[in-house]
Amino acid sequence: MSDLADIDQQHQELVNMLNRLNDAVKNHESRKHVYLIINEVITYTELHFANEERLMVQTGYPGIEGHKNIHKELIKDAFRLKDKLHYLGEDRFREWFNRWPFGRALAHIQYADKELEDYLIQRGVKE
Ligand SMILES: [Fe+2]
Ligand SMILES: [Fe+2]
Repeated sequence: MSDLADIDQQHQELVNMLNRLNDAVKNHESRKHVYLIINEVITYTELHFANEERLMVQTGYPGIEGHKNIHKELIKDAFRLKDKLHYLGEDRFREWFNRWPFGRALAHIQYADKELEDYLIQRGVKE
């Protein structure tokens, strides 16, 4: 599979994972199960970001610093999920989770990643 198709597929998988997490929390699934999904989200996100950052370096993407900073913030958001579940317990976590910035991850895919993908296409990275 090409790098660009990989990125698209990883985005789809990330959105699916976040939806699974949302469902698990809303359906009062066990803390253990929710932890597993959060760990999955963290591992997969780190892998995905490393992948994008490798492509940015390889192609000399001018927006690399700003883009990497957003990745750092998003990883922090993901780790916060784990910490909060640990410290707050399930009920208070569920309340807190309502305010977790899902939109931030989705907006990143929609705007910053879209910009990167357009650049990669321009630079002749295979679609
Ligand atoms: Fe991405
Ligand atoms: Fe990104």
